[in-house]
Amino acid sequence: MNRKDFIKTCGYTCLGSLALGPLLQSCTPMKMITGTIEGENILVQLSDFKIVKKEEVLFRKYLIVQNELLQFPICVYRVSETEYSALWMKCTHQGNELTAFGDKLHCSAHGSEFDKHGNVTNGPAANQLRTFEVIIENEQLKISLKAV
Ligand code: FES
Repeated sequence: MNRKDFIKTCGYTCLGSLALGPLLQSCTPMKMITGTIEGENILVQLSDFKIVKKEEVLFRKYLIVQNELLQFPICVYRVSETEYSALWMKCTHQGNELTAFGDKLHCSAHGSEFDKHGNVTNGPAANQLRTFEVIIENEQLKISLKAV
């Protein structure tokens, strides 16, 4: 490959990355919402998990729930129609905020990873994430903040 072809190939690759980046991001199931705090619970509408495409209804794997009163966000996984898992997004190693990637939460500080139930799948973190009780009621999730 000569210099001209190399530059041309790199140019197309860069353009492709720029064009596909936002497109791929729009395909991700992640959504960030602000939950409403009511008493000892933070409320999330079940409809926030729905993605309606034409006549098909799909469901996000998880939502990131935040509120200005919370020090860290809560990641809520939709395990099934009747089971949800709410996890405090604070790494149990040294307290860094976690990032959600599909079915796992990743810590950028030292590489710890957790599954959608908060179990450690990769250290150095040794303890599972703090979890919150979730109750489904009137088309919404009531996530108990008692443990926060
Ligand atoms: S703070 Fe998360 S792995 Fe160290």
